[in-house]
Amino acid sequence: CGIVGYIGSKDAKEVLLHGLEKLEYRGYDSAGIYVIREQNDGHLFKEKGRIAALRDKVDVSVEANAGIGHTRWATHGEPSVRNAHPHQSTSGRYTIVHNGVIENYQEVKDAYLEDVELVSETDTEIIVQLIAWFAENEGLDTLDAFKKTIVTLEGSYAIALIDKEDPDVVYAAKNKSPLLLGKGDGFNVICSDAMAMIKETNQFVELMDKEVAVVTKDSLSIENFSGDIIERNHYIAELDSNDLEKGTYPYYMLKEIDEQPAVMRKLVLKYQDEEGKLSIDPEIVNTMMDSDRIYIIAAGTSYHAGLVGKKLLEEMTNIPTEVHVSSEFGYHTPLLPEKPFFIFISQSGETADSRQVLVKMNELGHPSLTVTNVAGSTLSRESNFTLLLNAGPEIAVASTKAYTAQIAVLAILSEVVGMEKGLIDEPTMIHDLGIVANAMQTLVDEKDVIEELASEYLSITRNAFYIGRGMDYHVALEAALKLKEISYIQTEGFAAGELKHGTIALIEKGTPVIALVTEQAVAGHTRGNLQETRARGAHTMVISMDGLDRPGDHIVIPKVNPLLSALVSVIPTQLLSYYCSLHRGNDVDKPRNLAKSVTVE
Ligand code: G6P
Repeated sequence: CGIVGYIGSKDAKEVLLHGLEKLEYRGYDSAGIYVIREQNDGHLFKEKGRIAALRDKVDVSVEANAGIGHTRWATHGEPSVRNAHPHQSTSGRYTIVHNGVIENYQEVKDAYLEDVELVSETDTEIIVQLIAWFAENEGLDTLDAFKKTIVTLEGSYAIALIDKEDPDVVYAAKNKSPLLLGKGDGFNVICSDAMAMIKETNQFVELMDKEVAVVTKDSLSIENFSGDIIERNHYIAELDSNDLEKGTYPYYMLKEIDEQPAVMRKLVLKYQDEEGKLSIDPEIVNTMMDSDRIYIIAAGTSYHAGLVGKKLLEEMTNIPTEVHVSSEFGYHTPLLPEKPFFIFISQSGETADSRQVLVKMNELGHPSLTVTNVAGSTLSRESNFTLLLNAGPEIAVASTKAYTAQIAVLAILSEVVGMEKGLIDEPTMIHDLGIVANAMQTLVDEKDVIEELASEYLSITRNAFYIGRGMDYHVALEAALKLKEISYIQTEGFAAGELKHGTIALIEKGTPVIALVTEQAVAGHTRGNLQETRARGAHTMVISMDGLDRPGDHIVIPKVNPLLSALVSVIPTQLLSYYCSLHRGNDVDKPRNLAKSVTVE
């Protein structure tokens, strides 16, 4: 979900709609704006589906210079106009937009709002009705009613509020969900992601948990619940608005797949010191060397990058490493050793599941590093250290270049720590990643072949399998997720040897089974497992590495350092997913039901 807010002298409708369009990539199912100029003259527009549909609905003749807007990804209540934000109090005096989930929704409703007729099924409406309740029943002014409301709420929220009796102010507050205040000359903005408002300003001030902001066109003031004013400097968001355009590409996903060789080269440069050696903040290296076990915490594609990262870290640094899905780890934390070191991997740096773990580990005092694409993101701010992916904004919901950049950063980190520990004599990573970039380029240049394979194997099937062993198994998991996300084909990534212990029962005549074969020690075994499926009717495909290839293999990836094979073998699987989704007529960049950055648990 996304939040935008504006107060100034421009046409607020246009600023908000443009902001929402910039958040479109994050995935949503409905959107809305509320705009106002004169006291008591607010206008609310909401629509299900795309921002274009909302744009059509907005009355162009309405004049307004303040407003709030929202894109919603349904958590409570189905996607509909009724459940779309903004939501209003019964009197229509207060209007809010909200990201997050209110956990004590039912208790609040029972305690205060028994007599209030709710019009939506959302937890958000509870917030706005409660603000109105405190204002009406306890005679509080808007700021105090707002503060009292948020003190009463439990859960995660980023909120922007307008009181139609005072159209010169927009209020904001947050807990766990991200919210930024943007500074302008004669205007100010609010947004959940700097990208939404980068056209207006690049100066942002972070709002922290349990703070309230009062924003007018000429001022931004932040205070805590006790009313203490908080001074905070702004930072400059380094976003290039050109990175946000897809140029001649039909979809961002294809652009981002193509960018991967350049991202590898850029990363090597970014992490090189003046002498041309790879270098990482010594504090990070020392803290890691001091730890007795590394815990990688992540979700989705980032979790899959973590699986590869474990191999790299253990191989090069000799520090035992575990990888965990963040939504599981926080609530079912395993027994920790004395000196754990946490690595959070997150493209967006905002995933609530991961943040929940970070908050707990911070409380326990364990050191942590965030590997993210977004400087200044919540995970980055709240962990001790950050390593940036430098991949440029990733707009397509299905992650591609962030995955490979995450692995490359972990490879660089592993080598630097391994060198420092004296485990590696000669560094090779700069050279190896250069070879990887070339290999990636060869594969992205073979789009025609891969597009044909996508048509032949995946155009009509309802299910599919990727199989592999070791690193290939980890890539199989990511390849399967990618295909699921954008083609809606039920796909399993499977450990090749495990398939025969049950799941092989699913193989029917024509079921596509794609084997990844890049590791010498297990290549023969994986090929054997593929044969087992072929004998049962599977339509088999092989992606192998040069040197391990056999006649008849469908895609042969160039030879790279075996520890880095994932960076290369994943490329054809990304392209297979892309073309499969494209041929099926899906919206490649904005798959159904998904959001780019999930800020709820
Ligand atoms: C969402 C996205 C996935 C992504 C996951 C983790 O579910 O749809 O593509 O992998 O979040 O996101 P993160 O930003 O933490 O890497």
